[in-house]
Amino acid sequence: MNNTQDTSANTGATTGAAPEAFRHDTAFQVRDGIHSPEVLRLSAAETHVVDFGGIYSPSLKDRQAVGRAFRDAFTGPGYLVLQNHQFPQSVITRARAAMEGFFSLSVEDKMKCHYLDWPNHRGYVPLEGINADHSLMGGDMSEAIEMAEDLPADDPDRLSGNRFYGPNNWPMSPANFRWALGTYYDCQIELGRQIMRAFEYALETDEGFFTSKYTKPLSRTRVCHYPPQGAPVPSQADAPEASASGPDGDIDMAHIGIGAHTDYECFTTVWQDAEGLQMLGDDGRWRMVPAMEGAFAVNLGDLMQIWTNDQFKSTLHRVINTSGRDRYSLVQFFGVDYDVDVEPLSGTVSPDNPWRYEPIKAGQHSENMVSATYHYDEE
Ligand SMILES: [Fe+2]
Repeated sequence: MNNTQDTSANTGATTGAAPEAFRHDTAFQVRDGIHSPEVLRLSAAETHVVDFGGIYSPSLKDRQAVGRAFRDAFTGPGYLVLQNHQFPQSVITRARAAMEGFFSLSVEDKMKCHYLDWPNHRGYVPLEGINADHSLMGGDMSEAIEMAEDLPADDPDRLSGNRFYGPNNWPMSPANFRWALGTYYDCQIELGRQIMRAFEYALETDEGFFTSKYTKPLSRTRVCHYPPQGAPVPSQADAPEASASGPDGDIDMAHIGIGAHTDYECFTTVWQDAEGLQMLGDDGRWRMVPAMEGAFAVNLGDLMQIWTNDQFKSTLHRVINTSGRDRYSLVQFFGVDYDVDVEPLSGTVSPDNPWRYEPIKAGQHSENMVSATYHYDEE
């Protein structure tokens, strides 16, 4: 890939020399400020909230207005918070209960569905099981279940070599986990189709440009649990205005909830029941995204950065759970069909913004990045 981003800034202004183990294999994830502990705490009024209702409107003007709000978000703060999205709250409530039931099991029971014992990247990822920030080589203080569309083992696309298709590695307990999280996945896929439409308006492509590539998408759900770290910080919901602070107490920045990274696909939705998600702005400053009732945070992934030829940047983000209690989140990564060629849209290329990327298969980029983050290369 011909990525022309400046990689010389690597670990950011606050961290000095790059750690010995730094690997220059993740150009999307190299940004100023990446390891700064300081975070801006925004009030709800300062958060980029988008009313998504217009995407369902028969009026083209309403749908285009949602597209403009997306464009403003991804040429500005790099994220948005989606409200009025029509996603059923009952599905979130059931998923939340089932995931708490699973993460309350003993480590021994949870390890019975370990992801490395399964062929297609599904199953339990234990505490400190990965390091999302490839520049630190630490261990992330969260545990998760990776799941996706539950396809049969003899799915023809899987048999033809598309490694990430196939069956889920479901836990045996709680008994309703499969129903609760499988339903969550299905509803997210539908929400993702609507978000794909919003990107079509944001980028003024033909209607159907993205949704036509979203027929058997390489999308995943990451079902997450973050234990609390450091001294609790009061909820920012009551904050009258933005304020900056670092986490109190002993927090090793190489062992936060999940280290700084970009997501690998087109975009991601995050439901969170407590604060912790932070996004890095172009100014090199971290911002905490408030946990808003019934809302999803949306950040951009690498594939959309390629498609927009850097007009929209994939969002560097991390999690530090300073809420003082266990934090549960549901993270949905939205890809497109495995064999779609991703390359800059013609409308994004100009003399001022020349062609930056060679085409890459959507599935191949995900495979490359997952292999670098998880421990397949150590098997
Ligand atoms: Fe992420």
